[in-house]
Amino acid sequence: MRFDQLLQSQGLGSRSECRRMIEYGRVTVGDMGFVRDPRSEFHVDGFRFSIDGCEHEFRRQVYIVMNKPAAYECSHRPDRYPSIFALLPPELIRRGVQAVGRLDSDTTGLLLLSDDGQFIHSLTSPNRTVTKCYEVLARHPVDDVQLGKLEAGVVLRDDPEPVRATQCERVSENVVRMSVTEGRYHLVKRMVAASGNRVEHLRRLAIGGFELPSSLAPGAWRWLETAELKLLGWNAAVED
Ligand code: URA
Repeated sequence: MRFDQLLQSQGLGSRSECRRMIEYGRVTVGDMGFVRDPRSEFHVDGFRFSIDGCEHEFRRQVYIVMNKPAAYECSHRPDRYPSIFALLPPELIRRGVQAVGRLDSDTTGLLLLSDDGQFIHSLTSPNRTVTKCYEVLARHPVDDVQLGKLEAGVVLRDDPEPVRATQCERVSENVVRMSVTEGRYHLVKRMVAASGNRVEHLRRLAIGGFELPSSLAPGAWRWLETAELKLLGWNAAVED
């Protein structure tokens, strides 16, 4: 791919901005040092370069994991809190990265983001049954009756069909780990309320077979690896 086009595909600016970056000697490529010809051709797979000393690697698509902090909204146009997109570099925003399903502003934990519409659809479509696992801190001790209700299914106001937790396990007196397959608005909070308790804090731990990496601090993000995408049922090789 042509050098200026390659930088543009990574969200690093318009074609002319990328051309100027190259011509002004701001971009180095591996062992080659500065490359000042925007028409240079490169193989994209595994292609690494630096802009003003900051390293980049070519990525065909964006697949990232974030540990969502509390008091951030999953919207590009937030109401009350800052947007989670403010935690990402501008080149990812320019690439049109979206959250793979939203978490409430006070919910923390595993959030996936991508610019691949098919990937997002594969995880959020109501026709797919992707399990999402949450850790719930409840206001009151969780008793067996409440656990039983969550497992048997509770009826919510917007649907006469009961919705059940596919798995529900008490971790301590007030903490439950529960999995759901749907992605409806405030689903876990409403289910817990319908069982006779109240969510004080909610943290997403896993989506499908992929767990929130323990090394990821709140607010931090990183690229997903090919093996991690497989755990999410997605077969795409990323340049890792
Ligand atoms: N269920 C909720 O109630 N809130 C979330 O953020 C996610 C699932």
